[in-house]
Amino acid sequence: MESKVFEWIEQERQRQENTIELIASENFTSDNVMRAMGSCLTNKYSEGYPAYRHDGVGRKGRYYGGCQVVDRIEEYCCAKWQEVFQTDYHVNVQPHSGSQANLAAYQAVLKPGDTILAMDLNNGGHLSHGSAANFSGKIYHTVFYDVDENGFIDYDDIARKIRQYHPDLVLAGASAYSRIIDFARIREILDKCATGGRRPWFMVDMAHIAGLVAGGVHPSPFGLADIVTTTTHKTLRGPRGGLIFCRPELAGKVDGAVFPGTQGGPLQHVIAAKAVAAEEACTPAFRDYARRVVENCDAMCREFLKMGYHVVTGGTENHLFLLDLSRTHPRLTGAMVQEELDRHGITLNKNCVPGEKRSPMEASGVRIGTAAETTRGKTAEDFAAIARRIDAVIRELDKKVAEG
Ligand SMILES: Cc1ncc(COP(=O)(O)O)c(C=O)c1O
Repeated sequence: MESKVFEWIEQERQRQENTIELIASENFTSDNVMRAMGSCLTNKYSEGYPAYRHDGVGRKGRYYGGCQVVDRIEEYCCAKWQEVFQTDYHVNVQPHSGSQANLAAYQAVLKPGDTILAMDLNNGGHLSHGSAANFSGKIYHTVFYDVDENGFIDYDDIARKIRQYHPDLVLAGASAYSRIIDFARIREILDKCATGGRRPWFMVDMAHIAGLVAGGVHPSPFGLADIVTTTTHKTLRGPRGGLIFCRPELAGKVDGAVFPGTQGGPLQHVIAAKAVAAEEACTPAFRDYARRVVENCDAMCREFLKMGYHVVTGGTENHLFLLDLSRTHPRLTGAMVQEELDRHGITLNKNCVPGEKRSPMEASGVRIGTAAETTRGKTAEDFAAIARRIDAVIRELDKKVAEG
């Protein structure tokens, strides 16, 4: 019997094919990633870890029989991700998502009630970085560092807040920040602020920029951070999932925090797809892709600036940027623009902007990313043309709203 669901999957396939995808956290995976995801590996239970690891980290083994093949896949997946980031950090490839990776990373080094210093959701951080509505804000005490009046990370505020709050962990990483994050500078601040020979843990959540780090167009956090988490489905162009890297001495804590700490059986079909994505991310073609994502983003952002739009921080150095509509089109909310563009076959998302006065469901900005359409081969000229199409839709909508 053909399931009803396949009709909807076909509808979604057509929707994706016939729209311009500018959601900064989305991408189009390869057929091979899809093949691995949709395989018999989904049938396999494999709680635990392969008994022997290529990097010598001792692991107890699995709780189920029949894991001979999945052990090899998981081992290979770990080795490949170390190759992608040219690192000897220990890697755990089991987190089901970016949020799960963060949950386990915190659990590895923190106790409930410990203090995390991170970037606020309104300034570009992520829910799992300490939002009151999220587990991270309920289990831990969170304080936030600010951005300056132009939207840039205020590194001096990081130092100030470390002295004021003595956090146990400082987190760098964002969901909506268009500039290079200076990991070396943050590490230097942490070293300087260490009290009694003890500095806070330094964690980087590179979920958004991981593909750019892999492609050599964003500085790497490896060698600086104690723990690095990421998703595999954004600029890395892999399956939906998470990874945790850590200094080798934290391997036992991180592994224990993933399983049995916060998860049960790993998704071996996803781990296989992560391995395929890692193979792809090791290629010269991927480096070229990462470079084009950034070039295309810069070209599109410049086109908006030329048309008089207000871009948070005045530009971009990565795969995304934010338009602050409150400065140019105060009648419009991010939600209104998102919905209208949806009707015109352009997909993006509403986003809070620094100093946001509206609720996150309305928001005053929109976030625009170039990772997905660069995968489809769009050029800088194509992105500039899309910017002009978006402008035409926004101007028309603004006129309609003004006329009531
Ligand atoms: C910086 C950052 N960390 C974590 C996540 C969470 O990832 P997931 O949606 O896989 O839980 C996101 C998702 O957007 C993110 O942007």
